[in-house]
Order: sequence, then structure tokens, then C-alpha cells
Amino acid sequence: MTNGIMHARVSACANIALAKYWGKTDLEYNVPAVPSISLTLDQLVTETEVRFVEGLESDVVMLDGRTATAREAQRAIAMLNRVRQTAGLQWRATVTSSNHFPTAAGLASSASGFAALAAAAMRAAGLELDPEALSALARQSSASAARSVFGGFVELPGGVPGERSLAARQIAPQRHWDVRLILALTATGPKSVGSTDAMERSRRTSPYYQAWVDHAPHWAVIIKRAIRDRNLSALGIAMEHSTFSFHSCAMTSDPRILYWNPATVAALHTVTGLRERGVSAWSTMDAGPHVKVLCEAADAARIQRALQRTPGVLEARIAKPGPGIEVLS
Ligand code: DP6
Repeated sequence: MTNGIMHARVSACANIALAKYWGKTDLEYNVPAVPSISLTLDQLVTETEVRFVEGLESDVVMLDGRTATAREAQRAIAMLNRVRQTAGLQWRATVTSSNHFPTAAGLASSASGFAALAAAAMRAAGLELDPEALSALARQSSASAARSVFGGFVELPGGVPGERSLAARQIAPQRHWDVRLILALTATGPKSVGSTDAMERSRRTSPYYQAWVDHAPHWAVIIKRAIRDRNLSALGIAMEHSTFSFHSCAMTSDPRILYWNPATVAALHTVTGLRERGVSAWSTMDAGPHVKVLCEAADAARIQRALQRTPGVLEARIAKPGPGIEVLS
């Protein structure tokens, strides 16, 4: 603490789920219904500074140089409140967060954002940065953020209602497997329905939701084993099942949620076509229209070119395995 200010600055990277999280067993503590497994990515980095200031009247949240919307601020302040409660601190804070993403086109990540915010707030408040506690804290704001605390390959178990301390853990470090993820952007602007609302609508209304919850753990087991064995095709097959199954829940919700556009479909066909020509390329998608392709490092440039030539694809970027939370000051 110095002169009525306590501050910290950290960075966190986004992650891509290989086994998807979709649906919660507990809305209050944000507990995922299914296990998920992810790869933390370099390139997609959020830097966040938190300053607790004595005498400040209210929390101020700035994102990418603008004032946060009411909903964004509310989620950030909920996190600050949890940290203040743990630390026994009353001071309000200023939060300044910026995404260092190669493009602003729909890749903004609540995962890197909330992982960075959790770490910066805990450190600024003088709390020890225990990775498990940090991951559980980040999870309460956004479950995918629990995974961005760690680098490399990470798993977050599913949980039961009330499980406040549920946290992610690293299953293999960044250097374990030098894969690539190619991000094919198919639209600009924000997605049609945010993942928090979309997964809750799926849970309440999709006739396929229970089948998803029943099957998802099986894919997570296969994916974890495939990571251990560095078996890309085993991973890819299960990853595509996981992606298309949760999108099926979204599509069969009421009202239905269709994230795909024509370029999404074209990019998925590009990946299938590459596979037919012997290239080990595997698609995954989040709650949005972009297609992300997992492959070996040696195939990345060829796949990037094929995606860039696909009608409607705006750009294709190559990302690598990335690190976990890093403290900057
Ligand atoms: C499709 O972590 O954004 O990207 O916990 O409500 O904040 P909240 O949801 P969020 O959902 C991510 C969903 C997904 C799959 C995944 O990342 O596992």
C-alpha cells in the first residue's frame, strides 16, 4: 500500500475450448454442468490494471479506452466486491483493461478479461495469488476465465450446485505439444446472443440439452487422453462432436440461436476438404460465427491459405499455445 492507493497490473491470454463448456448447474456461483478442456493461446492478450483508491466514491471501469457498459461494469464490480470481501477492504477501484488482439473483429474474450481482472484485483488487494483460488474466483465471473489462469492445456471439471471453490487445473504445459490454432474470422461486430444467455436458454428450452450434458464428459475423457498422447485425429474427432453438439443445443433452443453465417459453413467445408486431401485439420467454434482450426505446426500455413481463399472469410490468423497469468507490476 502506498499513499492511499493499492494497485497491480497483470496480463492473461484467451483460450479455446477443445472440449466445450455449455450450461450451468448453478447460476449464482456460475458452476458449469459439464467438464471442459482448453488450450491457452498466445497473441490474444488482455492487460488489466486495478487501483484501489482511498476515498474514491465509486468503482470506475474502462475497457479499451471507453467507459464500460452498465452490464460490463456490473460484472466487473461483482468481481471487485468478492475480492474486497475476502481482503476486508472498503476502497473503491479504477479498472483499466485493454485487449491486445490482432483484430477487434469479434474475438473479444471474457476469458482473458476476467482472468486478468481477478488476478489484478487480488494482487492489488494484497491477497496471495494462489492459482486455485484465483481460478475459482475468475470462474464465478465467467467459467472459461477459470481456464485462462493457466497456460497450455487446461481442464475445468463440471460441478454441483453451490460448489464455490471449483477451479481449473493445468493438464499439460504450453511446451507439451506445439499445435497451432487458426482463427478464421467470418464477421465483424458482436455476436447475436452472448454465451451466458445462450447457454441458459439452451438449458431451459432445448430438447437436446440433457443429451449434451450426458455426452460431454465422454468427449472430455477422449480429448484429455488425446492431449496426453499427442494424437491430433483422436482429439479432432471428439472436438468436432463437442462443438457441433453444443451448437445443436443452441439451434434447437426457443427462440433458436443460429450463430452461423454462409462463410461459417464455407470454412467448415474447407476444413473437411483439406482432411479429404490428407491434412489433419479440425474445426471448433465458440458462441459466434468464427471457425477455429486445430492442426500441427507444419500444416498451419497451408490451412491458413485455404481459409483465406474461402468465400466470406475476412482473415485467418495463426495462434500458438500461450502462457497463463503474468504479473506486470
Ligand atoms: C462456447 O465462459 O463465456 O466458449 O460462464 O456465462 O461467462 P459464462 O460463459 P463463457 O462461455 C464460454 C462458452 C464457449 C465454450 C467454452 O469456452 O468452453
